[in-house]
Amino acid sequence: MSENVLAIEHLEVHYGHHHALRGVSLDVAPGEAVGLIGETGSGKSTLARSVLGLVRPTAGQIRIVGEDVAGHSQRQWRAFRRRGLVQYVFQDPLRSLDPDLTIEQSLIEPLLLRGDSRASALETGRGQLERVNLEPDLLTRVPGELSGGQRQRVAVARALVVQPTLIILDEPVSALDAANRVQILQIIKDLRDGGTALVFISHDLGSVAGVADRVAVLYQGELVETGPTANVLRSPQHPYTRLLLGSVPTLHAPPASRAERQALRAQLVS
Ligand SMILES: Nc1ncnc2c1ncn2[C@@H]1O[C@H](COP(=O)(O)OP(=O)(O)O)[C@@H](O)[C@H]1O
Ligand SMILES: [Mg+2]
Repeated sequence: MSENVLAIEHLEVHYGHHHALRGVSLDVAPGEAVGLIGETGSGKSTLARSVLGLVRPTAGQIRIVGEDVAGHSQRQWRAFRRRGLVQYVFQDPLRSLDPDLTIEQSLIEPLLLRGDSRASALETGRGQLERVNLEPDLLTRVPGELSGGQRQRVAVARALVVQPTLIILDEPVSALDAANRVQILQIIKDLRDGGTALVFISHDLGSVAGVADRVAVLYQGELVETGPTANVLRSPQHPYTRLLLGSVPTLHAPPASRAERQALRAQLVS
C-alpha cells in the first residue's frame, strides 16, 4: 500500500467566530486527481491555503507525503516549501507570480530554492515554456506585459518546473476566456496522465469533470459528498450536489428547473 500524498483529517479553520471548515477529511493518493467543488464561500480556498501553510488550522491533521504540517511554525513551513513537493496555481496569476520578476526569474525561482545550480535551473526553466505553448521571447518580460492567459500558463509552468508530488489548483481557469481555458485544462489533463497528484478546485463542476478521477463536494465548510467523478455525476447523493449538477447543462441528467432548485435550497437551509 503506498502512502497518500495528502491526508487531511478533521480539519477545522475558524476566522474569528466564522467556521470556514468544519471537520473536513480528504485523502489524495499518489497520482490521483481530486476535484474539489462548492459555491463561493464554501471554504475551498481556505482548504487550499491550509495545505499551503497560508492559513493556520484551528484543529485537525494535515499530512503531506507523510509529514505532519498542521502544527508547523513559519520556519518549518519555509523549509518544507523549499523542497518543492507541493506547488500551486491560483485563479489570479498575479498572486502566483511576483510582478517585479521577469518570467525567467519566476520560472527558475522554485528550482533555486530547492538548491539547483543557476545554470541547470535556467535550462530546466526555459524548457518549461514549450510545455505550456509559450514563446521563449517572453522570458525577459514581466507579468504585466503578458495577457491574462499567458500569465496563467507561466504560473502553471512555474508550478511544474520542480516536478512536484502534488499541485493545488485553486480556480485555475475561472478568470480565463474560453480558448485559454481549453489550453490550461489540457495541460492539467496531461499532468494527471503523467501521474502528478492534484487537487483541482472550482465552483464549476463542468471544468472539473473532465479532469478529476474523484470529486469532493464542499458545502458551508463541510464535505457533503465524495466519490468517483462518474458516480457523483450519475447519481449524486446529497441535495447540494444535485443542486450543483442542475447548473451544469452538459450532463446526462436533465437540468433541474428553477422551482426544483429553489425547493432544494429550502431543504438545505431548513
Ligand atoms: N481571511 C479571512 N478572514 C475572515 N473570513 C474569511 C477569510 N478568508 C475567507 N473567509 C470567509 O470564509 C469563508 C470561506 O471562504 P473561502 O475559503 O475563500 O471560500 P471559497 O474559496 O469556497 O469561495 C467565506 O465565508 C469567507 O468570507
Ligand atoms: Mg476561493
